Amino acid sequence: MEYPEKIFKIDHLEGISEKQIEEHLKLYSGYVKHTNLIFEKIATLSKDPDNNAYVISELRRRFGFEFNGMRMHEYYFEEFVEGPKEADKDSELSKILSEKYGSVNSAMEYMEDVALTRGIGWMVLCYDSIAKTPYVVWVGDHELGQLGGLSVIMVLDMWEHAFMVDYTPSEKKKYIRSFFNNLNWKVPENRFRGIM
Ligand SMILES: [Fe+2]
Repeated sequence: MEYPEKIFKIDHLEGISEKQIEEHLKLYSGYVKHTNLIFEKIATLSKDPDNNAYVISELRRRFGFEFNGMRMHEYYFEEFVEGPKEADKDSELSKILSEKYGSVNSAMEYMEDVALTRGIGWMVLCYDSIAKTPYVVWVGDHELGQLGGLSVIMVLDMWEHAFMVDYTPSEKKKYIRSFFNNLNWKVPENRFRGIM
């Protein structure tokens, strides 16, 4: 099977330039390409498994990086489609965020805090459907620290490539504000509804 590159119709965003999105989408495209390519490479190298054992192992390890690089970007870009929409205070998502963090605003403050974690990676809001509780976690690279079996509700790309066309590294906070200002809350709300 082959994963298709998804198309995201993203209109004008406040504080995140067209150039920034355009460059970022090129990187996304690379992750789709390499996710598809990695199986081909493993199949070719597997014709001589003894000589290629180390390379095959490394490619298998790499798969999580490439696959999550693809999937996490799809979550991210989708969150801008159809433009900014505020959180619905009566939604199920607002309810569970308010239960755990006090209010949707406090949850957003906490998400901002996690997003400011040093290094490259992602702020991820996910949901543990066994314990019935949301988590906000930091994921290094694209895959380090993903919690097993938890469903992704919202992601924020905190790799420098996600904001450096518009902001310097010391302006991360401005980028995070821009992300929340442009976020279509319907997207995480629908994701949450889908896993309940
Ligand atoms: Fe990215």
